[in-house]
Amino acid sequence: MAILVTGGAGYIGSVTVEGLRARGEAVVVLDDLVQGHRLALDADVPFYQGNAGDRKLLARVAHDHKLEACIHFAALASVGESVAEPAKYFENNVEQGIAMISALAQQGVRRVVFSSSCATYGEPEQIPITEQSRQWPTNPYGWSKLFLERLLDSYDTAYGLKFVALRYFNAAGASEKCGEHHKPETHLIPNVLSVALGEQPVVPVFGNNYPTPDGTPIRDYIHVIDLADAHIRALEHLRRGGQSDFLNLGTGHGFSVFEVIECIREVTRRKIPVHIESPRPGDPSRLVADPTKTKAVLAWEPAVSDLRSIVRSAWNWRLRHPSGYVAQ
Ligand code: UFG
Repeated sequence: MAILVTGGAGYIGSVTVEGLRARGEAVVVLDDLVQGHRLALDADVPFYQGNAGDRKLLARVAHDHKLEACIHFAALASVGESVAEPAKYFENNVEQGIAMISALAQQGVRRVVFSSSCATYGEPEQIPITEQSRQWPTNPYGWSKLFLERLLDSYDTAYGLKFVALRYFNAAGASEKCGEHHKPETHLIPNVLSVALGEQPVVPVFGNNYPTPDGTPIRDYIHVIDLADAHIRALEHLRRGGQSDFLNLGTGHGFSVFEVIECIREVTRRKIPVHIESPRPGDPSRLVADPTKTKAVLAWEPAVSDLRSIVRSAWNWRLRHPSGYVAQ
């Protein structure tokens, strides 16, 4: 029996594939390689290039491999782009997601671990954010994730599909083998590392007038290895007959943009000039998880998510892969 990992050649997907295979799990990856990288996977990982919602391809994958479960990462995940090009997000994340989950249900796959996001909460009413907090996204990306959450919940009620929707906060860091390489890169830590490496002259800081102690937005950074571990535990939870659930993946501790940059200066010992720019539309001032429920349901603890370890791992990966994933 194999686990289908859609988006398994992407940032979080590839680290999860690494973790699953280290545990001896049979994995098959489906990825369109728009953001993913074939080089992020070992050559012997069964791999299909295509859209997550390609029903014919899914039938072939299900025929070639006896599928037991799916971890569904495949999605576009850039908040700003989703505001500018919502159709792309609803087609890619929602339309493809509906087709994929329906096709898998037809093939008898009854367990899904889904990449959701704290973007489903929108502007939080209270910090830290619990799973019971109001969900009202402030961008199409967040709506696309919330729609799939609702779909999974309805399919559980009607068809008995069991799922865990994991609401990530800010994924960051790298494993020994896999790291973050987006095109274009919009995330804070890889952008600051590009300045540390001299690839970019200055870090744009999007606003310093937020209602936070130093005026820059606060985020809850979670190591990609801890994220991958939570996916594997969510799968085990479903295998044990556990209930469907919605779970936050964060540490409960927030860091401002300036605090992250300072930590990167300390780890890299490089000069990192910054330039204050206008706030990015749709950026909430503070997003911090309450991970209490996740710890109880999955017996999960963020083991390596202190900010220094996150930054050091991302820096080490970038030093080894200065241009990201490129064929040698
Ligand atoms: N930032 C900068 N300069 C940069 C990049 C980012 O100042 O060059 C700031 C942003 O304005 C924000 C913070 O750093 O305040 C973090 O920004 P990221 O782009 O790294 O992450 P976001 O919090 O915007 O987005 C993340 C995930 C999304 C998810 C979202 C939930 O990348 O997928 O959290 O709000 F939807």
